[in-house]
Amino acid sequence: MEKLAIDGGRPVRANVLGYGRQLIEDDDVAAVEAVLRSDWLTCGPATEAFERDLATVTGARFVTAVSNGTAALHVSCLAAGVGPGDEVIVSAITFAASANCARYCGADVRFADIDPETWNLRPDEVRRLVTPRTKTVVAVDFGGVPTNLAEIRSICDEHGLVLIEDAAHSLGGLYRGRPIGSIADLTCFSFHPVKTVACGEGGAVATSDPELARRVALFAKHGITHDSAQFVEPDVGGWHYEQLELGYNYRMTDIQAALGSSQLAKLPRFAGRRRELVAFYNERFSEMPYVRFQRDDHPDATVRHLYCLWFDTAALGTTRRFVYDALRAEGIGVNVHYLPVYRLPYYADLGYDPACCPEANRYYEGAVTLPLHCRMSGDDAKDVVRAVEKVVGACRAGREAL
Ligand SMILES: Cc1ncc(COP(=O)(O)O)c(C=O)c1O
Repeated sequence: MEKLAIDGGRPVRANVLGYGRQLIEDDDVAAVEAVLRSDWLTCGPATEAFERDLATVTGARFVTAVSNGTAALHVSCLAAGVGPGDEVIVSAITFAASANCARYCGADVRFADIDPETWNLRPDEVRRLVTPRTKTVVAVDFGGVPTNLAEIRSICDEHGLVLIEDAAHSLGGLYRGRPIGSIADLTCFSFHPVKTVACGEGGAVATSDPELARRVALFAKHGITHDSAQFVEPDVGGWHYEQLELGYNYRMTDIQAALGSSQLAKLPRFAGRRRELVAFYNERFSEMPYVRFQRDDHPDATVRHLYCLWFDTAALGTTRRFVYDALRAEGIGVNVHYLPVYRLPYYADLGYDPACCPEANRYYEGAVTLPLHCRMSGDDAKDVVRAVEKVVGACRAGREAL
């Protein structure tokens, strides 16, 4: 039995392999440089081009690029009319921003528990949580695996709810043959550096509903319009504009957008590499006891952002803390996605029961995120598997010695 690095043994890797990282190439740099040398740093042609490029990839009629994914979720809630007294149903295992967007609007969050295999929110939970106050559902494509959009869509239609898809993880994927971005009422994307396409910071909202698109664009730009067709008062001249809502400055810059378009052109390659890595991991981990990976029935149509592995820590006689620390000591820069949102102190202070979503809690107890990004080589992926084998093997040996 090889001694674990955490116990003073030799680590699998000398240099740490991070869990996510952007891949920026010379043409990406050239695209940004061209914008920096141009007349427009913001609100210019590069942003318009990025919005067009995203419309092509997502199949949505309208796309508004914004400053980040959190802003995309916020303006989507505003566009959907979410306000004080409303309720928003959100997946329990997600980044806090998926729920915060409802709180920004003064609404209450109802956390829906997750499916034990796909780790996406369960439609029957959504149905259970609907009340007359419910306004929207924020459904997250966890790790990139599309949530059950068909069933959630039909629950939303039945109750007159707006479906917001948090697709921060799933850009480029297909759901039942349709691109992510063409199904929900509003679909939100993030272009944070660990995501499949990086802008540094960046986000976008895709919709095919002209009225929602109008409202998204309005809220993302101070609530101000220069479109005379929307004016309430007489147009007094070429300088005239009107503020119709209390909006925000959530504009994307042309610098971000140029990087976004350049990266987006590589999405098929990025998606393919991520699929290869996921397939390799799945094959290796399917033979390994005590670990479980995310269920995805259509891996060839999915673009994965995260690869989370669930360790049966009770059966292994260990803790997630030990597994995490041991893998880090082996040079694998693992992470954890995510803490159940209702257990974060801000939400706990609002009175959420820490036991409200048992599956989310069970998932969290064993979840560890492994590296998955396009800079990874085959040898990097083998190192990850070797480190997991080593740690699981040591835990098993420890149990057998008991
Ligand atoms: C599921 C999810 N939603 C929303 C966001 C927010 O995106 P951003 O970091 O671009 O604001 C993230 C980012 O990590 C995310 O993972």
